[in-house]
Amino acid sequence: MNAETSAPPLAPPPAPPIPAVSTVGLTRTYGTMTALNALDLTVNRGDLFGFIGSNGAGKTTTLRILATFLAPSAGQARVLGHDVVRDADAVRHVIGYMPDFFGVYKDMEVTEYLDFFGACYKIPTAQREKTVNDVLELVGLSEKKGALIGALSRGMQQRLGLARVLIHDPQLLLLDEPASGLDPRARIEMMAILQELQRLGKTIIISSHILSELQTLCNRVAIIEKGKLIYSGPVQGVRDQMASGLVIWVKVAAETDRAIELLKSRSEVAEVAPVDGRIKVTMVNHDIDHSCIADTIVRGGLKLVGLAEDELGLEEVFLRVTRGETQ
Ligand SMILES: Nc1ncnc2c1ncn2[C@@H]1O[C@H](COP(=O)(O)OP(=O)(O)OP(=O)(O)O)[C@@H](O)[C@H]1O
Ligand SMILES: [Mg+2]
Repeated sequence: MNAETSAPPLAPPPAPPIPAVSTVGLTRTYGTMTALNALDLTVNRGDLFGFIGSNGAGKTTTLRILATFLAPSAGQARVLGHDVVRDADAVRHVIGYMPDFFGVYKDMEVTEYLDFFGACYKIPTAQREKTVNDVLELVGLSEKKGALIGALSRGMQQRLGLARVLIHDPQLLLLDEPASGLDPRARIEMMAILQELQRLGKTIIISSHILSELQTLCNRVAIIEKGKLIYSGPVQGVRDQMASGLVIWVKVAAETDRAIELLKSRSEVAEVAPVDGRIKVTMVNHDIDHSCIADTIVRGGLKLVGLAEDELGLEEVFLRVTRGETQ
């Protein structure tokens, strides 16, 4: 036996981690209407994932399928490796789904309500009080333990909704517009709670129709329109992929035509056009250094009187991408 000379067996490459969500060709029709059209979506574990689309784009339909409340018409969806149709029970144990409306529990007290859901998830009685206290603490509602749900503000009700979906300590949270109808302060509080939950290791999918609201919160986003995926990736990539180049507005004291000619000769510039006494310069991309614009004008012997960057807001990019496409 020559164990020393034989080459060690090649270790198989590590299996890629199972994504939190993966859908392939996911489709849902209502009669002749296609609400979700062959959606291929991947959400990785640990993501705080923004799911963006205008009214009627298909966000709720997708989340309801992932939460096993709605059957797909075609295609597959897996949640943490479990098929949402074949292994629906397993999926329900690992997700917390917060629908876009709050249920009809207005006459219940906060703790009673959470205790009720804890019992539904078969959390032993002895452990339930601590679990309820923990989730209330997490969402900042400890002060409101004995309050009637109907007497809570909208923001507090949303946070209570979040507490409810946390009660069985799910790995994946599916939150359908959790910040809708909240005032700016309540929104910020909600976002801070979601960041804390991500830090605690949860994967979170949050839907919204406002891209800019999620740009600092989420590490990745998907945009859907008319049931189709039109973007999936990092937030910054939305602008790079969807928008044309950076626009610079230039004003010269005189000889605008000459300035246009000079600017057109630059390789960094894609387009130059006079607009209302100013010059609109579109650069070839977004990350380009535009100091060459001022240089070109000044070296050409012209007097530069104004230069401003027209940073296309994320929301404008989103509106351009989805303009007029809602159904
Ligand atoms: N039960 C239903 N019967 C018929 N059509 C439906 C049903 N539910 C949803 N739809 C249609 O499917 C499409 C997608 O709806 P969905 O609720 O998923 O959109 P959404 O992105 O969540 O919109 P919103 O921002 O308004 O909540 C819409 O055109 C909607 O009218
Ligand atoms: Mg919806």
